[in-house]
Amino acid sequence: MEKKDIKILAIESSCDETSAAVVVNGREVLSNIIASQIDIHTKFGGVVPEVASRKHIEVIVPVVEEALNEANLTLEDIDAVAVTYGPGLVGALLVGVQYAKALAYAIDVPLIGVNHIEGHISANFIDHKELEPPFITLVVSGGHTYIVYMEDFGKFEILGQTRDDAAGEAFDKVARSIGLGYPGGPKIDKVSKNGNDDAIKFPKANFHDNSIDFSFSGVKSAVLNYINNANMKNEEIIVEDVAASFQKAVVEVLVENVLKACKKKKVDKIAIAGGVASNSCLRATMEKECGKRGIKVLFPSLKLCTDNAAMIGSAAYFEYINGRTSEITLNAVPNLKLGQR
Ligand code: KG4
Ligand code: ZN
Repeated sequence: MEKKDIKILAIESSCDETSAAVVVNGREVLSNIIASQIDIHTKFGGVVPEVASRKHIEVIVPVVEEALNEANLTLEDIDAVAVTYGPGLVGALLVGVQYAKALAYAIDVPLIGVNHIEGHISANFIDHKELEPPFITLVVSGGHTYIVYMEDFGKFEILGQTRDDAAGEAFDKVARSIGLGYPGGPKIDKVSKNGNDDAIKFPKANFHDNSIDFSFSGVKSAVLNYINNANMKNEEIIVEDVAASFQKAVVEVLVENVLKACKKKKVDKIAIAGGVASNSCLRATMEKECGKRGIKVLFPSLKLCTDNAAMIGSAAYFEYINGRTSEITLNAVPNLKLGQR
């Protein structure tokens, strides 16, 4: 007998994007609607949690409707409802979680709570149909920086993580300090193309033990000091050079550490994930260094790097087929850890 396709309606509202998607068997995306709040938060220079929650409430119903319409499906066709329940902003998460719980209850299908970070990793299963664990993954987003050994679906070992700022957070803060505004990552990426990445030597944190942890607060402070010094001495600041030199310092340490993880685990496959995975310098450097070592490196397409519900639908499918669904009492867990259930 042919296996039935599993169609999951997934919802994501952990930060400043309201998204709904329909994903079949964890790999095929029928729709992936993303309502971004970037324009609203840009005025404040960053995400304002209370504003984010209110906006999610306003748009969640039409976003879900659009996801179903674009997939050419009705609620009757849906086999399970998936939702991000952490980590993220509590008020923002709650909107998606409450909506998904009510919907799953009303249409009488299983509810699947998904860890947002696992969702980011799963974006790779959509774009790389043949990809299966084990592999090493580097998750670099606005809130998280992890090097993880994904041994199997749902089985994660954290090998390294940031001890202070997340990689994306460092991009955003540095962008603000050099007047590029919010969100900083894409802006630094863009202006760096016209800059000299050897112009300024910014420090890289290396820990003495065998750790492959990260620290980005040092490089962030070094950029701030550089700007303050130049301002005091009335020296010209070449924004493109500062951006390119900062980006290089961050990318170098990300690449070095993820390669160390491959060596440690004797793995020759890497999947990168999260918003910073769209960084062009990270992509190019990873490809170059992995090419030299015969390591395969995979990235999600740009749309699936930043927050979206399709990646949540993919992660949910692998939970579902392994018999892991959630109770209707599911709650938002703002500081949910990777692999924690
Ligand atoms: O994964 P994501 O959409 O949200 C979180 O879960 O945090 O990541 C957003 C982060 C922001 O910090 C943004 O500045 C960064 O990803 N980002 C980038 C680029 N595009 C987005 N950082 C560097 N280069 C980029 N091209
Ligand atoms: Zn994210």
